Amino acid sequence: MTTNIAVLVSGRGSNLQSIIDNIENGYIQNAQITVVVSDVSDAYALERAREHGITDVYIDPSDFESKKEYELEVLEILKDHGADMILLAGYMRLLGKTIIEAYSNRIINIHPALLPAFKGLHAQEQAFEYGVKVAGCTVHFVDEGMDTGPIIIQKCVPVLDDDTADSLSARILEQEHKIFPEAVKLFTEGKLKVEGRIVVHA
Ligand code: GRF
Repeated sequence: MTTNIAVLVSGRGSNLQSIIDNIENGYIQNAQITVVVSDVSDAYALERAREHGITDVYIDPSDFESKKEYELEVLEILKDHGADMILLAGYMRLLGKTIIEAYSNRIINIHPALLPAFKGLHAQEQAFEYGVKVAGCTVHFVDEGMDTGPIIIQKCVPVLDDDTADSLSARILEQEHKIFPEAVKLFTEGKLKVEGRIVVHA
């Protein structure tokens, strides 16, 4: 059975690209991205989708009276494209109940820090400024909190003496592009089981 994936984005879309590439090169099998939805009109991620023949949709959140109404519209689009799961690939909004309840344990996010440290925005800068010696990234299921859902995969990278926030971000991003597809592969092969906060790799 083919898993239909919807990807929500807000920006440059390098993580979207890593999923597209890993579907195209056969690492992730029996899966396709059926739609990419952005809340930002000129997100480069939309162009990446178009370049690969994937439907791209921009929805302006300010057209809606409430977050609920905006998310109902997003859900409608996902339904139209038969989405079985959602990936958040640099989507800069906190998901609300409406989408989370519709896709419980079927939404996966990539975060550029070793959770539960450095949640929220500019996680790499937060880590750099805190002076950690080890940084990294996390792929996790999404719940209603900010970067709080059950952890699927984490990867560490060292913080070097001559690092800047930018060089550290680049080192983390390289690992994001590995563990995000890895998690999607495990999910689409039915190999992830969520037991409370714990994700078991079957
Ligand atoms: C990545 O660092 C991701 O971890 C975070 O937002 C950034 C998105 O980058 N959630 P991109 O749009 O995938 O290039």
